Amino acid sequence: MPRIIIDTDPGVDDAIAILMALAAPSVEVVGCTVVGGNVSHARALRNARALLEFVGRPEIPVHRGSSRPLHGKFASARNFHSGSGLTRRLPEPSVKLPSQGAVDFLAGQLSENPGETTLVAIGPLTNLARLERQYPGSLARAASLVIMGGAVDSSGNIMPQAEFNFYCDPLAAHEVMAVGLPVTLVDLAACRQVAMSREMAFSLKSRTPLGRLALQIIQNWFKVDEQRENMLFYDQIAMAATICPDVMTTRQVSLDIEVEGPEAGVSKVTAGGGPAALADEVDAERLFTLTSQWLGWDAA
Ligand code: RIB
Ligand code: CA
Repeated sequence: MPRIIIDTDPGVDDAIAILMALAAPSVEVVGCTVVGGNVSHARALRNARALLEFVGRPEIPVHRGSSRPLHGKFASARNFHSGSGLTRRLPEPSVKLPSQGAVDFLAGQLSENPGETTLVAIGPLTNLARLERQYPGSLARAASLVIMGGAVDSSGNIMPQAEFNFYCDPLAAHEVMAVGLPVTLVDLAACRQVAMSREMAFSLKSRTPLGRLALQIIQNWFKVDEQRENMLFYDQIAMAATICPDVMTTRQVSLDIEVEGPEAGVSKVTAGGGPAALADEVDAERLFTLTSQWLGWDAA
């Protein structure tokens, strides 16, 4: 069974993506590594631990990662994710935090199981960049890299042309993409092809505890602001593509990320036919069919 490690900044959409992975029968989540971004690292770490314990998966280790980007400090997206980063309270986690940090955990997993573990990066890429700096060649030991980030030939969501994850740590995004490994990249242009409407969110129920929690998080997200009509699926698409690559088509490109200045975090195609499989067309119907299967969603 394919093994995945989720590098994450939960985060509402991160939480749904994690629940999708836990519910999908065809992948094994061997661990999570946490990075600051949507909320502070401390809050993201708590949210990841609380989520896994709440759904009865306390055995999945959550490793602390980067609380700051390689340079500077993280922006925050608290407006989208509410103050806590999730839209419902979860009991405080009680399982002891592993002493091993994210970089050492990732390095160990990839060297002990070369070619067997997929890294699903759905937050700023700081942990992955630090991994490659401290343990050169580690990323190449991953079975594959799936990244949610960037806005290629598309407007941004945190700056006019920059997407949040790449903007939070543009140097890390540049360094990870510069390694030149095959990556699957789900950018904003792909994410804007899929949204769950308020009507759809409240028309669903679930047969499973994971699915009910996911629906609660989504429905509460809409309740936070009556003006919200659609929830874009960001990390959920990256996770769905990890589990079932046929949810989207891709095109091969070479990408670079601006590291500083007014275009920091902006992703640019430098050539066609490069190592990045950039999401092209997302099959929204298939994505919702798969997500509903995994999370036991049915019409209410
Ligand atoms: O731009 C969207 C990305 O930024 C998602 O990963 C979301 O969770 C935030 O981290
Ligand atoms: Ca995220």
